[in-house]
Amino acid sequence: MRSFVFQTTPTIVCEQGAAATLSTTVSALGGTRAFVVTDRGVLDAGIATAPVAALTQAGIEVTVFSDVQADPPEAVVLQAVAAARTAGADMVIGLGGGSSMDTAKLVALLACTDQPLADIYGIGLARGPRLPLIQVPTTAGTGSEVTPISIVTTPTSEKKGVVSPLLLPDVAVLDSLLTLGVPPAITAMTGVDAMVHAIEAYTSRVKKNLLSDALAIKALQLLYTNIRIAVTDGAHADARENMLLGATLAGMAFANAPVAAVHALAYPLGGHFHLPHGLSNALMLTATLRFNLGSARAEYAQLGRAIDPALAAADDASAAERFVASIAALVAEMPFAQSLRAAGVTETALPVLAEDAMKQQRLLVNNPRDVALADALQLYRTAF
Ligand SMILES: NC(=O)c1ccc[n+]([C@@H]2O[C@H](COP(=O)([O-])OP(=O)(O)OC[C@H]3O[C@@H](n4cnc5c(N)ncnc54)[C@H](O)[C@@H]3O)[C@@H](O)[C@H]2O)c1
Ligand SMILES: [Fe+2]
Repeated sequence: MRSFVFQTTPTIVCEQGAAATLSTTVSALGGTRAFVVTDRGVLDAGIATAPVAALTQAGIEVTVFSDVQADPPEAVVLQAVAAARTAGADMVIGLGGGSSMDTAKLVALLACTDQPLADIYGIGLARGPRLPLIQVPTTAGTGSEVTPISIVTTPTSEKKGVVSPLLLPDVAVLDSLLTLGVPPAITAMTGVDAMVHAIEAYTSRVKKNLLSDALAIKALQLLYTNIRIAVTDGAHADARENMLLGATLAGMAFANAPVAAVHALAYPLGGHFHLPHGLSNALMLTATLRFNLGSARAEYAQLGRAIDPALAAADDASAAERFVASIAALVAEMPFAQSLRAAGVTETALPVLAEDAMKQQRLLVNNPRDVALADALQLYRTAF
């Protein structure tokens, strides 16, 4: 058996309404001055109101930072760190999608240490300590509540990751009631992002293992069977809970068996054109699955059988083909732009995007098939 290490968030609370009883979790971690990291959209959706009121009522001092921006720019992260220091925070709560949770992770870390942010991009470079950290996802997407990763946009429009076990939150609170109001397009984009996490974890070349495989399969089953319902009937409580759980399981999987070419190709789209992370992934997904097909046939066949029992007896070649076709059909049904061109990407930018994608070697090494610069360019052309 191949040896492996598996790490995840030590406490996961899954309960509808749990966000309104957050004070118990905060107090259990010894927090008295909580710093809530969120964005304007979450605030305007009224999602922070009940948790903040409950914390205040329990005698916990609360400071809300709601200036997080999508694909958090370095400057905003540093602004949040400064605000947490000024507030004398002794606990950080990320409340929102991946952008808020990723910012919260770095606030918890950098509020306690003088290490410059620019020095900790990469794997394992951060030193502790950090403040206690609770994550409350309000989208079913990134799985950031169970990953040791924070993704930041640098001043040169590059998306860089800080990867460190220090960034694994102490507690993840999964309250699917918070996700009932996510608009259809954001539900679709974030849901496809989570599906890509499951697929790329399952085919991850270096660190794939028995635990990540089990989580990825279950995640994809939950996500694939619920995403259409969640997109068309946002108030469907069961579908929303299944999506949230699916996203978390996919996060646990890819935190240990990292994502690959779809993400490597997606990041430059976020950095240069500010496409939402999930949309960037969705736009590159079908082309990349086809590109990988010959190298990941057995794995794609297994994923195909997991989401479609009719493929139980099919041979690997046809099950894998059917899997790619099913995912492509699902993406094509989603309510968002269906090509790079339709999403506002310019054709002249494709060579720059390809060059930037090649900088994501941290991710490309996990892809089942090697990706050269010419391949990256061709994949962008196919998706254009
Ligand atoms: N840390 C990780 O492991 C990891 C993994 C994948 C992606 N990411 C990063 O996460 C970020 C993307 O996160 P995301 O896709 O969750 O999007 P996001 O956090 O940027 O949020 C997208 C939009 O949804 C809104 N929103 C969130 N919750 C809502 C709710 N309940 N109701 C109504 N509106 C709501 C927000 O206000 C925002 O406008 C990117 O920066 C990406 O690089 C991190
Ligand atoms: Fe992602």
